[in-house]
Amino acid sequence: MPETMPFPAFDDIPFPAFDDVPPLREAFAPHFPIGAVLSRQALQGRESIDADLAARHFSALTAENSMKPEALQPAEGQFTYDAADRLVEIAEACGAAPIGHTLVWHAQTPAWFFVDSDGSPVGRDVALGRLRAHIAAVVGRYRGRIGQWDVVNEAISDASGEWLRPSPWREAIGDDYIAEAFRAAHAADPDATLIYNDYNIELRGKRAKTLRLLRMLLDQQVPVHAVGIQGHWRMDTPDFAEVEEAILEFAALGLTVMITEMDIGVLPTQYQGGDVSVNEVMTREQQAVMDPYVDSLPEEVARQHAARCQRAFEMFLRHKHVIGRVSFWGTCDGSSWLNDFPVRGRTDYPLLFDRRRRPKPAFFAVQQAAQAAC
Ligand code: XIL
Repeated sequence: MPETMPFPAFDDIPFPAFDDVPPLREAFAPHFPIGAVLSRQALQGRESIDADLAARHFSALTAENSMKPEALQPAEGQFTYDAADRLVEIAEACGAAPIGHTLVWHAQTPAWFFVDSDGSPVGRDVALGRLRAHIAAVVGRYRGRIGQWDVVNEAISDASGEWLRPSPWREAIGDDYIAEAFRAAHAADPDATLIYNDYNIELRGKRAKTLRLLRMLLDQQVPVHAVGIQGHWRMDTPDFAEVEEAILEFAALGLTVMITEMDIGVLPTQYQGGDVSVNEVMTREQQAVMDPYVDSLPEEVARQHAARCQRAFEMFLRHKHVIGRVSFWGTCDGSSWLNDFPVRGRTDYPLLFDRRRRPKPAFFAVQQAAQAAC
């Protein structure tokens, strides 16, 4: 098998055997780590496709859900680390960097953090104590093993005229919950790279608010080292010129830029971004339009998707001196969260591998981009 594989014809069946597809991580070794996420099912050994792909192709691995507060500390002081430990062990076994996601977020965080035993809201001191205790326990457990943490996730508001999101953490503690989270993470592991992670912050409106937050944290000497652009993108948005501008502006603050959750959905939606509370409804009548590729992805769409992935990576590679990692939010199309977001029960094709773990045109396009940048 040659090292550079030719772009196979779309209906070139059978596809190369799994072991003959050159590992993506090798193509990216001269540039930056290339990552993926593993679902809870994959971590429990119930999705071998994802685990196989992760081990062969990716050099950074994030837990899709298993390190979120609801997974790690469902009740106060009761920590459940099984799946999180598994992520770290799998990553270490295949020489990939385990990534921590995420410590402080408004979603997937149990209500107990914010109420006392009779259900009334706790004050600043109690909430801050719980925030610090959670971070100290979790970051401390993986100290020296997990080198990057998404410390605060999605703190910026989507609403125009509003800066920070009204999260329960902010209500209980105040705006400085963000700074306090970074300080606690740094105290628990002074060597870890600490990331502020959010969606749509590459877009001008939300970007200005993010720059304001990051500048404020840096002015206060808060240990924030990187900004994570989630990268939940579509075929038509965002404009990559806008993303490129964002990469440069974030880097100009002296921060590393991570692309933390990339996927490029091909299905129609009114929504752009990663707000997990969005739920678009699809009626039976709308199904043919809203979920058009139930059986397979037409070749033309697969090629357009590949071309868009290639343009994205050409852009990342132009700025590889400031890009710390590019991670996909999934491994193969079948396990992507976009099959259920923002509309439930669709068949999306946002990643580099198909539902049978075969490389798609997007895989070869991204691989070519990496090789051309050497
Ligand atoms: C998503 C997971 O993929 C889903 O399985 C879960 O139901 C909801 O969360 N931004 C983030 C991720 O930071 O944690 C989200 O992951 C996707 C949006």
